Amino acid sequence: MTQATARAHTNIALIKYWGKQDEQLKLPQNNSLSLTLDHFYTDTTVIFDSSIATDDFQLDGQKLAPQNAIKIQQLIDHVRQLSGQTAHAQVISTNHVPTSAGLASSASGFAALAAAASKAAGLDLTQRDLSRLARRGSGSASRSIFGGFAEWQKGDSDETSYAVPIQETVDWEIAMLTVVVTAKEKKISSSVGMKRSVLTSPYYSAWVANATQDLTQIKQAIASQNFEQVGQISERNAMRMHALTLSSDPSFTYFNADSLKVMQAVNQLRDAGIPCYYTMDAGPNVKIICRPTDAPKITAVLSADFAPDQLILAQPGPGISYLD
Ligand code: PMV
Repeated sequence: MTQATARAHTNIALIKYWGKQDEQLKLPQNNSLSLTLDHFYTDTTVIFDSSIATDDFQLDGQKLAPQNAIKIQQLIDHVRQLSGQTAHAQVISTNHVPTSAGLASSASGFAALAAAASKAAGLDLTQRDLSRLARRGSGSASRSIFGGFAEWQKGDSDETSYAVPIQETVDWEIAMLTVVVTAKEKKISSSVGMKRSVLTSPYYSAWVANATQDLTQIKQAIASQNFEQVGQISERNAMRMHALTLSSDPSFTYFNADSLKVMQAVNQLRDAGIPCYYTMDAGPNVKIICRPTDAPKITAVLSADFAPDQLILAQPGPGISYLD
């Protein structure tokens, strides 16, 4: 019996991944860039045990039905193939993130799974190879191997599509306030949503061209620690991604009334001289990019509509770590 436990933090993309060029290998259409956060993470233990008769997957104390564990199963099978390990696996995962609420639990989940499974199977992977492995579970997970700002380079094959660190130690003022408008499961998964956008939005090619420009600009802004520029570029990139959902056929959106309320509040705060910017993923929750020193003022305004446990402040967080 061999086992390993890993912790991975979630990341929020500032330049979004929204569309694949290869469904099977999860190769994206454009490079993306994210900030890993300290507050949301997943701990995963993988045990390869020749005395058990089937693979067994547990998330937050609940056994997962096979139909809900297909991607986990595929990743474990792939690790067995890479390592020559033949025993069945027990996977025990605890999410310190509201699952499937657009808070990217899949990013921390698959990064932790890739790290724990490969180590338990005796593979000694480089961070680049770990990123490639995590990508097979969920594209955004490729970036959670690294702390701080990370870029997922799209590549054009399994070997060339992985994340790289851009700035692992973020020693300047940037934070993210998550407004959990709902912790319910999303209706249209990111995979289904992005596929529909690629196939049906007439604006898709413009998205790819723009995201590529946004990426170049945000990397310059990060290097010069220009908070306002990072915020502005992130906000416009997120809205362009969401324009792809609205312009798909049939049209769909991840916004709900509360998401719009938060966006409006951010605009008003900005008009009042507090620099803050919003971004959203495949769910209605809104993440506000702000300076940590401004967070109390922003929280005070949002407290009129949201309870304290719906407002979670996170700072830049670390990359993958092993707990035993
Ligand atoms: O990798 P997935 O399936 O979790 O898709 C992530 C999609 C977004 O969160 C909306 C954007 C991103 O780059 O993380």
